[in-house]
Amino acid sequence: MGALDKRLEALLQDRKAKNRFRSLKEYNTSTSSELVDFSSNDYLSLTSSSELRQEYLKRLAASPHILGSTGSRLLSGGTSAHSALESRFSSFFDSPAALLFNSGWDANVSFFGTVPQSSDWVVYDELVHASVHSGMRASRVRPERRIPFRHNDPDALREVLLRIRRKEDAGPSSSTKQEGVIFLALESLYSMDGDLACLPAFLDVMDEVVPRDRQCVVLDEAHSTGVYGSGGRGVGHAIGEAGDGRVGVRLMTFGKAVGSSGAVLLCSPVIRSFLINFARPLIFSTAIPHSTLISLECAWDLLQSTDGDQRRDKLMSLSSNFHALVRPILARTPRSTLSLPPAAAAPFASARQRHPTLPADPFSPIIGLLTPRPHALSAFLLERGLVVRPVVPPTVPPGGERVRICLRADMGMEVVERLVKALEAWADQERAGGVGRGTAGVQQVQLRGRL
Ligand SMILES: Cc1ncc(COP(=O)(O)O)c(C=O)c1O
Repeated sequence: MGALDKRLEALLQDRKAKNRFRSLKEYNTSTSSELVDFSSNDYLSLTSSSELRQEYLKRLAASPHILGSTGSRLLSGGTSAHSALESRFSSFFDSPAALLFNSGWDANVSFFGTVPQSSDWVVYDELVHASVHSGMRASRVRPERRIPFRHNDPDALREVLLRIRRKEDAGPSSSTKQEGVIFLALESLYSMDGDLACLPAFLDVMDEVVPRDRQCVVLDEAHSTGVYGSGGRGVGHAIGEAGDGRVGVRLMTFGKAVGSSGAVLLCSPVIRSFLINFARPLIFSTAIPHSTLISLECAWDLLQSTDGDQRRDKLMSLSSNFHALVRPILARTPRSTLSLPPAAAAPFASARQRHPTLPADPFSPIIGLLTPRPHALSAFLLERGLVVRPVVPPTVPPGGERVRICLRADMGMEVVERLVKALEAWADQERAGGVGRGTAGVQQVQLRGRL
């Protein structure tokens, strides 16, 4: 082993010792397999839709462009097919402009790495995605101006904003003072906890403390694209904050419920132009291939159809049933063995006055189940044919170890029941073995409605 391999091996051993070692695992979860996949982000089951597949192959065969885009968007990769899809997205999502990226990762790194400047502040929910952190680190914003607040807690945001305002007031006199933009980074549906952001309350807190022209609210809808809102337009749109609303920038990604890959950033024409000039992941990378553009056009036709509505309804009903079944089991299981992360009880409360059709407590296709022994639980479930992945630090904060369960629209209720029975068997086994005993707690899991 050479010196480099030795050094890397030592670092990997260190990771193993901390129980954080990652490796690539492949499971055959195709329809012919015995295994049921509860880890895929394919929430609407579009990747296995035969109608979508047929339509895609038909359009691909008829396309003048096949497969690759041949270059960066700024060179040969910029085609009318890319612009046409952006126009479609800007009108569908009610956004002044839209810019395609090869991935949600690229979009977040591009936006947070280039748009906020040294006089600005970036305030973010402590659970925002790693791509936002990578972007912020690459930006001109100094670390002390990048401030996290407690997850999904509008009061914690208020505290941070007031602190910023006090600092600004204590700074140089107002005639020379340069007041920057305050960026707020949120996700609409959090990927690990599966809870929805209290978006209206956050927007109200921003309005309380920060003048509107200094605000830039950035909403990552990676896990809600296609799933929430009419036609899958997302949470920002559903609560009436798209377009002229208070959410200035939205990220919609295509690798999860949309069943493809890539992302679109919905923003102002100036931000779009700025990113085209400064965002290195966009400038120095081959543009989205034509095969993907075609898959996205097909997926969006489906999302806007009755089939799309039926899939969204089915998903929400599975989630409702899962919660109804798991609630009594969690109620008699020590919290330290298995529990749900706390979720805001009514995330859209203030927006419901203006939008009465919004559900009080919406369902989510993602369920994070906290356990100190996620690997053991995952192995137990796998023995029963259920693929549920463990999630450990650094993906989640220490103490937030869990298994992450994702529901999909085409799952039968019987497999959801199988999963719940297996979870019950594991909880009973843990209790009998005395592992993970702690303060008994009763989970208050409320039934939630479709958004
Ligand atoms: C909240 C969030 N944002 C952004 C991304 C990155 O999106 P993509 O997979 O398209 O790179 C992810 C991916 O897991 C995500 O969960």
